[in-house]
Amino acid sequence: MIETDRLLLRPWSEEDAEALFKYASDPRVSELALWPCHTSVDMSREVIRRFFIPNQPTLAMELKLTGEPIGCIGLVPMGEEHYTPLTGEREIGYWIGHPHWSKGLTTEALMAFTPYCFNEMGLNSLLITTDRKNTGSQRVAEKCGFSLIDRYVCDGIASLAFRLRQTQ
Ligand SMILES: CC(C)(COP(=O)(O)OP(=O)(O)OC[C@H]1O[C@@H](n2cnc3c(N)ncnc32)[C@H](O)[C@@H]1OP(=O)(O)O)[C@@H](O)C(=O)NCCC(=O)NCCS
Repeated sequence: MIETDRLLLRPWSEEDAEALFKYASDPRVSELALWPCHTSVDMSREVIRRFFIPNQPTLAMELKLTGEPIGCIGLVPMGEEHYTPLTGEREIGYWIGHPHWSKGLTTEALMAFTPYCFNEMGLNSLLITTDRKNTGSQRVAEKCGFSLIDRYVCDGIASLAFRLRQTQ
């Protein structure tokens, strides 16, 4: 569990299915996050069971004020990255429900998640990839110290890759 001012970053549980459906059934989120829009609470529960729980760390962004999980941050499973990683490097993925956009919450989550990846997961470098049109995600990466390393095409999508190396 990782705590920030406004968020708890904690593992998903099947009890989160309804909240996940509420936000993941919104194409404004799913289209940019590049996963299928959720079509039922059962589908959301299945995603938690089959993808979130087995792939650690995949953490819910729980809003402390309400106790509701409103987004997700985690490491893309090894071998499924959208850019070839270096040794000791993993890709980070994130999304947040549309009503919570542009409040600095994903930046707050990523600021806390990157030291966790370096110090607790033993990684020495991190990647973020985005659709070239996804200016919001690029801002989040830049605000957290990531640098643009490449403009490329991934599965037919014009994309950008960002990297943050551990410094010490
Ligand atoms: C991208 C996303 C995670 C950003 O989350 P967020 O909590 O809104 O991010 P923050 O509020 O921390 O920061 C967003 C920054 O982008 C800016 N921004 C947001 N939308 C923008 C847009 N369309 N154009 C330009 N800037 C934009 C905000 O102003 C803010 O920058 P600022 O602090 O300099 O003003 C969220 O929009 C989202 O979930 N999108 C759908 C899924 C997705 O794209 N996931 C990432 C895949 S790589």
